[in-house]
Amino acid sequence: MESAASLPVPCFIDDLTTTGLAVMPGYVEPALVAALRDEIHAGRSLAGMRRARIGRGEGRRLASAVRGDWIRWLDGSTEAQRRFLGRLEGIRQEVNEALLLGLFEIEAHFALYPPGAGYQRHVDAFQHDNPRRLSAVLYLNRHWRRSQGGELAIYDAEGRELQRVLPEAGTLVLFLSQTVPHAVLPTRRWRGSIAAWFRLRAVDNPLAGLARLQPDDIEPTPVVDRAGGSCGSPGNCERIRTKEAVRISR
Ligand code: OGA
Ligand code: MN
Repeated sequence: MESAASLPVPCFIDDLTTTGLAVMPGYVEPALVAALRDEIHAGRSLAGMRRARIGRGEGRRLASAVRGDWIRWLDGSTEAQRRFLGRLEGIRQEVNEALLLGLFEIEAHFALYPPGAGYQRHVDAFQHDNPRRLSAVLYLNRHWRRSQGGELAIYDAEGRELQRVLPEAGTLVLFLSQTVPHAVLPTRRWRGSIAAWFRLRAVDNPLAGLARLQPDDIEPTPVVDRAGGSCGSPGNCERIRTKEAVRISR
């Protein structure tokens, strides 16, 4: 039997370490994506969803020019949600083991952007006031075309655009919540996704406790399809050294 130290590490660990971003087309299988998509009935109904707000506490407000999506928090009440949260739990464990980020729990919401909506450039957490450390987004629409807009745009610290990601069903994106500026470009089509965050410690939220699912609820860690993923070759995916891991967690 192989020792734990020689087990292959998923590509996303390597990508997160070098760029703070990992893009994984086809990471979630079509049947599960379809079940999640059915839960928000993209384009047909906003029932059960509410307008997303920005800011916190007293400063919380609607700002549709900044962000125009409707959201609903996952509560683990359906099989599809539990399976997807189980996948995120697998990622949480991989990241903690390889990067020592100390991620403790997961929160996630469905997001639906009506035509015309987007989300202006932002980061998901500021350095000292928010326990979010790693962001994940799963896209739910099939057959997305560039001409339909709605791409995830990634920027550097100076606001220069680095990359655009097509919000195509099954693609999972991971990025560091504190350091990767990003935006949802205005969409011309109903755009469904799940946005999730891995947080440092328990707080009062609907998913408290779900991050510690029973082992039986957790699917085996998915094998990333290297050809379809964002790593060029398996050689790029070797276990990273602890020294590097510490550097990106600071
Ligand atoms: C967010 C976000 C990106 C996307 O919800 O904070 O940046 O592509 N989402 O949906
Ligand atoms: Mn964001």
